This record gives sequence, C-alpha cells and structure tokens, in this order.
Amino acid sequence: MDLKRDHTLRVCENILDIGRSLGLCAIDLHLAETIALLHDIGRFEQYRRYKTFLDHQPEDHAALGITIIHNQKLLSAFDPETAEIILHAVKYHNRFALPKETNRRPCFS
Ligand SMILES: [Fe+2]
Repeated sequence: MDLKRDHTLRVCENILDIGRSLGLCAIDLHLAETIALLHDIGRFEQYRRYKTFLDHQPEDHAALGITIIHNQKLLSAFDPETAEIILHAVKYHNRFALPKETNRRPCFS
C-alpha cells in the first residue's frame, strides 16, 4: 500500500511538472492532478481483494477504479463534462492505445 501511495504522489508531482512545462492553466493543472491522484485508486482495492498488483489479474485495476469512483461518488463536486474526462483518463490509463473516439475538449490555457 505504501508503494502505491508513494507512486500516486510521485505521479501527482510529475503530472504537475509536465503540465507546467506545457504551459497549462490552473484549471487544467487541477484536472491533471485530480486524474493523477485517482488513476490508480483501483490498485488499493485490487490488493485488498486479491493480494496482487499484477496488471489485469484477476481484473483490470483501471476498471476497478472506475467502480470505486462511482460507488464512493468521488467526482460529485465536478461538472459532468469534467467528471467524464477524469473517468475516461482513469479507465484508459493502463492501455497500450486510446480508443479512437477519445473525448477532447479545448484546453483552458
Ligand atoms: Fe495503474
């Protein structure tokens, strides 16, 4: 659990560094940090249930994360469009490629 907590915190730091280097505005940096914070939330439940961090075994930790985000109503403070972007990023963060119909919105920067 400590490994995954530390990983998540490093991803939060790194995504902010990357976002700043790209010139993202505060709104987009906040969105990126939220995605980083939640991207591996399924790992904690995966380990609690199965005692493993193996990818996609016995289930996809990204999909598990989506279930947790929904069940815990973690995005209730976000507008629906922003919540959908966060869910999409979490769902596909561990995929080799994004689906062609990936949702895009203009950058606020
Ligand atoms: Fe992950």
